[in-house]
Order: sequence, then C-alpha cells, then structure tokens
Amino acid sequence: MGFLYRKLVRKLLFGFNPELVHDAVIQGARAAQAVPLVNSVVGLLARARELPVTVAGMRLRNPIGLAAGFDKNCEAARFLAGLGFGFLELGTVTLRPQPGNPKPRLFRLSEHSAIINRMGFNNAGAWQAARSLERLLPIPVPVGISIGKNADCSIEDAPKNYLETLKIMYPYGDYFAVNVSSPNTLQLRSLHSGEKLRRLLEPMLDFASGQKRARPFFVKIAPDLQQPELEAATELAAELGFGLIATNTTVSRDAVPKRWHVYEGGLSGKPLRQLSSEVLGKTAALARGRVPIMGSGGVFDGATALEKLKLGADLVQVYSGLVYEGPFIVKEILEYLHREGWRPGAR
Ligand SMILES: Cc1cc2nc3c(=O)[nH]c(=O)nc-3n(C[C@H](O)[C@H](O)[C@H](O)COP(=O)(O)O)c2cc1C
Repeated sequence: MGFLYRKLVRKLLFGFNPELVHDAVIQGARAAQAVPLVNSVVGLLARARELPVTVAGMRLRNPIGLAAGFDKNCEAARFLAGLGFGFLELGTVTLRPQPGNPKPRLFRLSEHSAIINRMGFNNAGAWQAARSLERLLPIPVPVGISIGKNADCSIEDAPKNYLETLKIMYPYGDYFAVNVSSPNTLQLRSLHSGEKLRRLLEPMLDFASGQKRARPFFVKIAPDLQQPELEAATELAAELGFGLIATNTTVSRDAVPKRWHVYEGGLSGKPLRQLSSEVLGKTAALARGRVPIMGSGGVFDGATALEKLKLGADLVQVYSGLVYEGPFIVKEILEYLHREGWRPGAR
C-alpha cells in the first residue's frame, strides 16, 4: 500500500502547491472522519500491530506518534488516529488566532525528502481548537497539545500567554508540549535558556498539579542548541519533572545544497535526521533515564524509528515521513520493529 502511495498518490499531490495540498488533506480528513464507514475502512487498511508502551503514565498502543504542526487546529484527530498512530500531538495552538507568516511559507525539497517551513504558528486560536476537540471526543488515542506563543506577545509576557492557553486546552490534552523551538517566531528560541524556561514552566506545572488529573509536560527543543543550553534544559527537566522532545526543525542548511540556503524557516525530513539524532543522543545521555524523551526528526521508516529508540527515545514522532512515505508509514514502522524484536525498555 505504501508503494502505491509513493508511485501514484504522491506524484499527483506533489504536482500542487504544498500548503494547498496540506489544507485539502486536512479538509478531506475532516470529511472522512464524519462518515463512520470511511473511518472504519481507513482504520482497517492502516491497522498496525500493537506494541504497547507506557510512558509518563500514558498507556499507548505503540510508541509512534504524529508530530506537532500537521493538525494545527485539532480538527482531524479522529481520522489521524485511524492511521495507526499510538498518540497524536496537535497544534501548535496559540492563545489568540493568528494568520502566521506571509505565503509562500511551505516548500518541498522533493529530491532531498525534506521540507522547509516558516508557517509561524498560523492557527485559529485556543478557543477554536478546544471547540473542535469537544466535537471530536472521544478520540481513540492519547492526544498531546502543543502550546506556543502569539507572535505579538513579548518574550517577557510569554509565561502568561502560554499559561492562559494551557488553561483553555487543559481538559483536552493527555499531555502538553511546550514549544520553545519553532524558528519562525521571533526570539522564541531564547526561551530555552535556564531561567526563562523555569519562569515559563513553573506556572504551568503549578496549574496542572492543582487539577483533578495531573498531566505530563514535555518541552520541545531545537536541534541547534549548544551543549550548555542542552545541559541546562535537561537539568531543569529532571528538577521540575517534565519530559523532552528532541527535536524541532533546524535553521542549519549544512545538509542541503546551496540553492536552499536562501529559504528561511525550519528544515525537516531526511536532512534533519542525523543532527536531531545527535541531539537526542546527547539529551538521553544527560538525562540518564530521569525524564521521558521523544525523538523527532527524519523518521521515514522502521530503521530510522529504531535508531531513535536505541538512542534513548521512549517515543518517536513523525511528520515529513508521513508526507513522503504516506498514510501507511506507522504500519510499516511497527512491522519493522516487530521483525527486529524491539521491546519497550530494550535499547
Ligand atoms: C509544515 C510543518 C509545520 C510544523 N509545525 C510545527 C508546529 O506547529 N509545532 C511544532 O512543535 N513543530 C512543528 N513542526 C515540526 C515537526 O513537528 C517535527 O518536529 C519536525 O518536522 C521534524 O520531524 P520530521 O523530520 O519527521 O518532519 C512542523 C513541521 C513542518 C514540516
């Protein structure tokens, strides 16, 4: 089935503007999930073997999740769950709606199996995302909500902006991903630094601990961090008790030819794999099992997923791989992990 996607469907889809295709896919998924029969057929075709794991108190049917940014408005979760994912990370959601950066802002680097995006957190805002999830409940797999900052909110005011978003989204998330690593919001990445990260996280963790159901938190980090920042973030994670997602997209263009260097934004897909895996490995070594870790960046098949797991990821996320390899990617990865005899906790 994956073969058919790569030979036929991808050729067709890649003939059109990337953002147009993405929007059409989300609209198609929304329509499909409203028809139980279509949903069941998709679920049947994409059904993957189970490989249950428990991470940060969440019981998941398998360790392969959808990375943030695919379903920014949390509107296609039921359909996406049908593709076999063990969990979905939705968003990034900001408090208020915002249009994002001017178009064009999404580019396919087909010959490199990569994407450059500078979307800039285009989304309909937290209230709309909450309404959308309310309509979709129950969603058959755990859902993470990625939270970001409005572009017009200063770095000083960021903690309040994140916290207000969290309060709106709290009833709908099984975990929360705090996004400080998008390269497309001015200065966002400065929130990685020790004290700023503490000021950001503490109020959110306080809020969560006062709720009936305490939910786990993850901070998504950039692959472009230097060792001291990585150490500070990991130590803070161990101290405050949040997990890490390594990594977001990169601003480095070292892994792609010169013609792509003028395209601003975050690079994802195959050219990100090595860098994100290096940062994942360093993070896992620093964390020494004290915090849960997700690996994201260049996962396109079973071998690249296994690489992340062996480097110390408890869970793995996929974005560009879904675009390039198609809707059966989770099934293909899980079959590979089964063949290789991978078991949770086996590194
Ligand atoms: C078009 C696009 C939009 C993205 N939007 C977000 C986002 O809103 N929030 C986020 O945390 N990551 C976002 N990402 C990053 C992905 O979640 C993922 O971490 C990254 O692409 C690396 O994984 P990949 O190589 O499998 O794509 C986006 C990626 C792409 C390609």
